[in-house]
This record gives sequence, structure tokens and C-alpha cells, in this order.
Amino acid sequence: MTMKLAVLASGSGSNLQSIFQHVDAGRIDAKVCVVFSNNPEAYALERARAQGVPAVGLFHRDFHSREAFDAAMVDVLHSHSVDAVALAGFMRMLTPTFLDAFPMRVVNIHPAILPSFPGAHGQRDAAQFGVKLAGCTVHFVDEEMDHGPIIIQAAIPVAKAVEGDALARAILRLEHRIFPQALAWLAADRLRVEDRFVIVENSQEPCCFEDECGPALVSPPLEPGF
Ligand code: GRF
Repeated sequence: MTMKLAVLASGSGSNLQSIFQHVDAGRIDAKVCVVFSNNPEAYALERARAQGVPAVGLFHRDFHSREAFDAAMVDVLHSHSVDAVALAGFMRMLTPTFLDAFPMRVVNIHPAILPSFPGAHGQRDAAQFGVKLAGCTVHFVDEEMDHGPIIIQAAIPVAKAVEGDALARAILRLEHRIFPQALAWLAADRLRVEDRFVIVENSQEPCCFEDECGPALVSPPLEPGF
């Protein structure tokens, strides 16, 4: 059955755009039913409208508590019959009020190789720490920040030539591939979760490919089209 997806985003929404492209191409068996933002000015909402997808912005500061805001989000998503949620640059922690409404159906993209460098500035923190490998992670969401069971990760070498903005751009390119891939697996019911371990049914060995900035390693590997 086609997954009824909500995408939550606080900013530009380039990951949202990548999700749209993969849905339109038939690579994710999902319909994006609604795009929601805690920032009514977010460009992600413009992208949704351009795509003909309902776009809802509610400013979190207009609510007296996190729980009240989360309850309002649940109402919006339920009114669109949503059954899975993608956090695509959504800069808010979620409470059980939200998570209990979509158990093991909320996934997040984070621009670092978790559990290293959680938080709002994963790429910058990793670069400043002097890492030699950087990358991104898609994981199920729990109540702790950037913490839930990991679905897929991608890594690239950090060379002198690839730091700062160039590194962030390279990581974003990978995000645009691994996030739709993880959503495709979720939509196809190919993810099994045992404690912290996520098993992708029928996945292959990890793969390497050449990104613009050098070799990239993705585990589990991307499937054709991603
Ligand atoms: C991405 O780097 C994502 O990993 C992080 O926020 C950024 C959102 O970018 N959580 P965009 O709005 O999808 O362009």
C-alpha cells in the first residue's frame, strides 16, 4: 500500500526536493500528503506549493509548550491521513506526544556519521574536530537527539580541498541520495528493527562510488536509481 508521507522541514528543503524527485520517478512507493514547517517562512513550503502538495506552517513559539505544538502537528498530519514522517532539516526535538502517534515511522537525516557530532551543526563540528571521514546518517527517531536506530550511512574523505562549504555541499549531495533510499525501504516494508539494529531485507554488500570530491562509501548500499 502506498505510504502516506509527511515531510517536516524548517529551512530550504533541498532534501524535500530530492524526495519529490524520487517519488515522481516511481522509486519510492509513497505519496507526499503534506509538508509541514515550524517556520512559516521556510522555503520548503514554497517547494511544496510548487509541487501542488499541501503546505502548513505553524510557528512553534505560538504554542505554550512542546507538547502543545506536537499535538497540533499530530492533528495536521492525521487530517492528511499520514502514516510515516520524514524529518528533512526539521530543527525541533519531538516529544512522545508526537512520536507515540507514529511509532517507528519517523525518520531523520543528519549531516554527520552518528553517533559522532549530533546537534544542529554536524558538518561544521566534524570539520572543526579534524575528522578524516565525514558523511551523513538516516535513522529512526526517538526522544533523544539524533539517536535512534541507524538505517543507512554514507562517508567521504575529508581532504584539504573538501572542507567548509565544499564539505557541507558534498555531504548534502549524499543526503539527497541516502534519504530517498531509506524512505524507499520504509515504504516497501523492508526494514526490520531489533533493539538498535536495523536490518534491510535483501540488501547487498556496502558499495563504493566516485563522488565529485572522491570515493564515497555507503552502507547498506544504494540501489539503482538512488
Ligand atoms: C541538511 O543538512 C540536513 O541533514 C539537516 O538540515 C539540512 C537541511 O537541508 N538536518 P535542506 O533544508 O534539506 O536543504
